[in-house]
Amino acid sequence: MPSQRLLHHNLPMTTLSSRPAQARRILLAGATGYIGRAVAAELLRRGHSVVAPVRDERARQRPDAAIVEDLLAGVERRAVELTDAGQTAKVLDGVEVDAAISCLASRSGIAADAWAVDHQANVNLLAAAKRAGARQFVLLSAICVQRPRLAFQHAKLAFETALMESGIAYSVVRPTAFFKSLSGQVGRVREGKPFLLFGDGRQTACKPIGERDLARFVADCLDDPAARNRVLPVGGPGGAITPREQGELLFELTGRKPRFRQVPIAVFDAALALLAPLARLSPRFAAKAELARIGRYYATESMLLWDESKGEYDADATPSHGEETLRDFYVRVLKDGLAGQSLGDQALF
Ligand SMILES: NC(=O)c1ccc[n+]([C@@H]2O[C@H](COP(=O)([O-])OP(=O)(O)OC[C@H]3O[C@@H](n4cnc5c(N)ncnc54)[C@H](OP(=O)(O)O)[C@@H]3O)[C@@H](O)[C@H]2O)c1
Repeated sequence: MPSQRLLHHNLPMTTLSSRPAQARRILLAGATGYIGRAVAAELLRRGHSVVAPVRDERARQRPDAAIVEDLLAGVERRAVELTDAGQTAKVLDGVEVDAAISCLASRSGIAADAWAVDHQANVNLLAAAKRAGARQFVLLSAICVQRPRLAFQHAKLAFETALMESGIAYSVVRPTAFFKSLSGQVGRVREGKPFLLFGDGRQTACKPIGERDLARFVADCLDDPAARNRVLPVGGPGGAITPREQGELLFELTGRKPRFRQVPIAVFDAALALLAPLARLSPRFAAKAELARIGRYYATESMLLWDESKGEYDADATPSHGEETLRDFYVRVLKDGLAGQSLGDQALF
């Protein structure tokens, strides 16, 4: 397996620019998700044709079905359960594509889901993509896999490895935090409630990126030789921001007096101490314990490039891309609302 450290390639902000795209046929998995929808829109805007394996029944039943329907107009959809290898092969049999993009992710992050989706569904997709003639595979992964401690991170890494060893040209995109992940407290602040922090809110930082900028970055990977066979960490424009600074920004934009409430990180440890013995007895408690571990991870780890030699996160070394800043995003959602930004199972507050 190629060394991931060697493959880390910190591209300057302008390297992956919007080049004129050659129209191609793209197999896009995860097209109903937050980033997948933005990628679908970007591919169509560039003149590519898109074929998307989707869980049709689920798509019809979701609360934002109309929005998804609207966003995916123009996309050729194939109803399939991607976690099922046989079904995936059958449904995608005869499909011909030039490249594949995966924005798949388990909705919950718990171990069984993560291995079924982040790993197995991607393995099934890769096999189908190769049979369909894809010469390239772009994977949306996550920057947090660089310090893996959670089941979903191990599942993602296992697929990254399978992809790198598969012989197909690959780009592994590892973004920092999405804007939606930093939108959970917009409503609280607007209602005059305090902004909740783990610890003092200065322990972690990220360089958040918007869905449209990330979608452009992913689409650029199809055309840019510099993105080929690379692991690409990527953040948004501007410097790194801590949770406390996110709160301060929201108070400034809403004109409210800053009010913070600190939640000790030890709440996760207490929850884990309680859940650990029960987790051995029941899958339900095992899932809750994994969610507590996920919460603790994000409360204590930055979403920035990790410098192994220094043993610390490096904001300056984390590549920036795109135009929309977190301030722009907060201004937009304070004016227009949070439609399309739902955190679903990933909501902490
Ligand atoms: N949130 C962050 O701040 C952040 C930061 C960095 C990286 N990331 C990574 O970015 C990636 C995409 O995130 P996202 O927020 O766009 O994800 P998302 O909105 O949860 O979308 C997940 C996609 O995967 C599909 N999917 C889930 N389970 C499936 C299954 N069993 N079979 C078939 N399809 C399934 C979903 O389809 P349905 O619509 O049918 O459920 C949906 O299209 C993830 O790998 C995530 O870890 C996230």
